[in-house]
Amino acid sequence: MPRTYTNRITGARHRPARKAVPPKKVAEETEKKSAKAEEDAKEAKKIARPAPAINQPPKDENKKAEPIKPSPAKEEKPLKKESKSEANEKPQKESQKESTRVTRIIALVNQKGGVGKTTCAMNIGAGLMRKGKSVLFVDADQQGSLTLGFGIDTKGKNTLYEVLKENCKTTDAIIKTSNGSHIIPSDLMLARAEAELALEPGRDMLMSEALAQVAGEYDYILIDCPPALSMPTVNALSAATEALIIVKPEFYSIKGVDLLEKTIQAVKKRVNNKLRTIGIVINMYDARRKAQNQKEIESIRNSFKEHIFSSYIRNVASVAGSPGSFQNIFEFKPKDAEDFESLVDEIIEAEEK
Ligand SMILES: Nc1ncnc2c1ncn2[C@@H]1O[C@H](COP(=O)(O)OP(=O)(O)OP(=O)(O)O)[C@@H](O)[C@H]1O
Ligand SMILES: [Mg+2]
Repeated sequence: MPRTYTNRITGARHRPARKAVPPKKVAEETEKKSAKAEEDAKEAKKIARPAPAINQPPKDENKKAEPIKPSPAKEEKPLKKESKSEANEKPQKESQKESTRVTRIIALVNQKGGVGKTTCAMNIGAGLMRKGKSVLFVDADQQGSLTLGFGIDTKGKNTLYEVLKENCKTTDAIIKTSNGSHIIPSDLMLARAEAELALEPGRDMLMSEALAQVAGEYDYILIDCPPALSMPTVNALSAATEALIIVKPEFYSIKGVDLLEKTIQAVKKRVNNKLRTIGIVINMYDARRKAQNQKEIESIRNSFKEHIFSSYIRNVASVAGSPGSFQNIFEFKPKDAEDFESLVDEIIEAEEK
């Protein structure tokens, strides 16, 4: 039984003070404490790590970036007591920091077939990657031309169909090709999605939701649309920040642009108010038919308020030939890639406008 003492003034009874700790032990404990404080400070620094730089492709291609979760046990104690509202604001501010990369999602559209949507998607994407941008290609066409152009066989692989049906996560459908491109492929199965999802509430937003899972990891997402104003096109426009209209300078190619513009406006009004048309790309410009081509371009200029990119893509045999070798024009014939190179510069500049 420890001895107790009575305080003569208060009459209270108490135990004697604990034995004094020898100075050596105090020094040891102080050292331990300061080492722990240093460790905690390091941990806090890790938590406050900034979001990845905008122009850098994902560092480890096989490893998906995981949101940084501060561990409550190791979080540095605040110096002053936080008010309740400050504490509630904290996670929101941190998530804002993580999503600083603004991903431009561009849908390459025209319901007219054969105008060069797929060709432009492949080569614009390649040009952007050469400028250090990270790019995700999305094949939203059941014909799977973009998928074929990358030399991908979809057998046994997840495609956009599985993604839209929510049978797999978006990351599980991304294929990484040997030249470092990332693509969500498509094949004929996509045609079934339209019928199977006909009664799905909010079906026009399925692609938007799917791409939101990975958007922060890329600078650009390029969606190659089919030649129809169908469910995949409406989904692409609902997911996109920008629409890029591809036309051939000929009467029939231009004819449908007004209908396309109406569709874009309807999507903008009803489901995606951040959608804007960045402009019209003139593809397959034929220098031998210069006068006729100019006439068609003038007619586009007079009919539509949209910006026309000044870099026309000429009709060049190597551009048509490159997908046959599973190459983009920069790889297949760099000399013929200058039109795409300057178009890519214009597209990058258009971000600010
Ligand atoms: N600038 C160009 N020079 C030469 N050939 C081109 C050019 N652009 C596209 N082509 C060729 O035109 C054809 C149609 O191009 P592409 O498949 O890209 O059009 P699309 O709009 O995607 O067609 P679809 O609507 O059927 O998906 C292809 O054979 C392609 O190689
Ligand atoms: Mg196509």
